[in-house]
Amino acid sequence: MKVTCVVDDAVCDHSPFWGEHGLAFLIEMNSGRVLFDTGQSGTVLLHNLNLLDVEPKAINALAISHAHYDHTGGLPALLDQVTGIPLYAHPDLFRERFSRREGPLKSVGLPSEREVLEQRLELRLSAEPMEILPGVWTTGEVTDRAEPEGRSANHLVHGVEGWEPDPYRDDMALVLETDEGLVVICGCCHAGLLNTLAHVRRAFDVDITAVAGGTHLLHADEAHLRRVIEVLRELGVPRLYFNHCTGLRAYVTLAQAFGEKVAPCPAGTTLSF
Ligand SMILES: [Fe+2]
Ligand SMILES: [Fe+2]
Repeated sequence: MKVTCVVDDAVCDHSPFWGEHGLAFLIEMNSGRVLFDTGQSGTVLLHNLNLLDVEPKAINALAISHAHYDHTGGLPALLDQVTGIPLYAHPDLFRERFSRREGPLKSVGLPSEREVLEQRLELRLSAEPMEILPGVWTTGEVTDRAEPEGRSANHLVHGVEGWEPDPYRDDMALVLETDEGLVVICGCCHAGLLNTLAHVRRAFDVDITAVAGGTHLLHADEAHLRRVIEVLRELGVPRLYFNHCTGLRAYVTLAQAFGEKVAPCPAGTTLSF
């Protein structure tokens, strides 16, 4: 099984891959190809897929981690070429999302109308884990969230009584079953990295051999990072490929704690399992 980071905020020096704030991973196995998230723009997604020699029509299924534009922005550019394939996501994918930084509220959710996606794709929406291809699963909704979440104070949704913090109900990861154990591919981990990993252990009951993707630790304080290190030590995860919204401080702290187990995962990185 091959896992390639197609879009990330970072690229290697002199890399032909383009980087922008966003995330997309391609999972390739004998039974097919799954694209997990689509980055922020079709321009970068299609450029990087082209460099990987992967035509969009060779993708067998899409999975979306959550609604934010940096994970769904490439969807409209894909639609013409991937018509009819399934899209796996949480039902809350279609809830409107907003960000309040400076000035007026900005819409930061899905760029495509639900009707358009329904016409072009086969929507498979569930809060439960779903098997996309043999051995490739969504986590479903991360239910128990005893550990800190990966929140941003400016992320809002329109609730019954007005604006309220985004509950990030739709935030999901992918789980790959490999001979070495489970590989967890995270989108943004708004549900919290530790909550996501605990959920995977409960739902799949197999050791985790690798974690890759965005972990939303960019706002994590010292206590939170210490707890992440403690839990990752307990779980004994041998390979850690953090990127996207992990944050430089968190990345350096984890690299110091785990040495060579931690490796960067910029766009163009391929991992084999
Ligand atoms: Fe996000
Ligand atoms: Fe993100």
